[in-house]
Amino acid sequence: MNDAVLSTTVLRPFDTRRAVNLAVTTWFSIAAIGHGIFLAYILAVFYPPIAQSGLHGLQGLDHLPAGFREGDTLGNLAAVAHVLLAAIVIGGGPLQLVPAVRRHAPTFHRWLGRSYLLAAVISSVGGLYMIWTRHSIGNLWSQITISVDGVLILVFAFLALRNVMAGRIAEHRRWALRLFMAASAVWFLRVALMGWATLTGGWGIDWESFTGPFVYALGVGQYLVPLAMLQWYFHCQKRDAGHRAQLAFVSTLVPLTVFMAIGIFAATMGMWLPRI
Ligand code: HEM
Repeated sequence: MNDAVLSTTVLRPFDTRRAVNLAVTTWFSIAAIGHGIFLAYILAVFYPPIAQSGLHGLQGLDHLPAGFREGDTLGNLAAVAHVLLAAIVIGGGPLQLVPAVRRHAPTFHRWLGRSYLLAAVISSVGGLYMIWTRHSIGNLWSQITISVDGVLILVFAFLALRNVMAGRIAEHRRWALRLFMAASAVWFLRVALMGWATLTGGWGIDWESFTGPFVYALGVGQYLVPLAMLQWYFHCQKRDAGHRAQLAFVSTLVPLTVFMAIGIFAATMGMWLPRI
């Protein structure tokens, strides 16, 4: 049986384009809830001590060993700006992608977009500064892989801005979506780590030193997997996209979404709720 016959006889009753949209909407809704929980954690854990003690606010936080150094004002400023602006990145990202917000509140979309872009850029520069001047968890591989993410954020932010200023909206949308994936990589890392730990008991993870095969894979996987899936989604949206490619995309995204949901639950219960 050739391809054309196969797609009419077997796949015809099943609208693969609608299946792609449904799978992506489901993925996005669950990811948005997960971002909301991480946002609540950031607001509850970092904002009160910074409001109370300023640059000394991150002193003595066990889970943020690189948050404070006595005498290093510039580094402490970078750390404080990093966690404060993380709230705009994690809270604003999903909101920017809701079509109804773009349609019904275009001015809000524009202002949130500008704030998101600026927050992502400053957060990345602060993160790069912290990672190369202070000893954090992980090893050189983790430092390099998260730095690549920092550079991707800067490049994608620049391209999203340049395209919208030139009125190329379709291009802007693609770069803005890539920016969202790169800026949320730190969220994907936490969710994937906890999901994996739940399913495998922590195979390939040394929790003390934050090293091990799974941690190394996650170093690049935190942004490469979301970016690859996004590229595949762009392909599936094309007018001439084949049913098989769309079906393969849905068959990959559904288990990844289940894994993500498990990870969100595990990160909420094991990482975020206990510290709020
Ligand atoms: C723009 C997206 C980013 C967001 C939203 C973000 C968010 C956060 C948050 C919430 C924390 C606190 C850790 C926690 O309690 O879980 C943190 C810590 C940190 N981030 Fe980021 N981050 C981003 C990008 C980066 C990048 C690109 C780098 C490095 C190049 C980086 C380096 C760090 C470092 C070094 C810490 C401190 C870890 C420690 O104390 O050991 N971040 N980040």
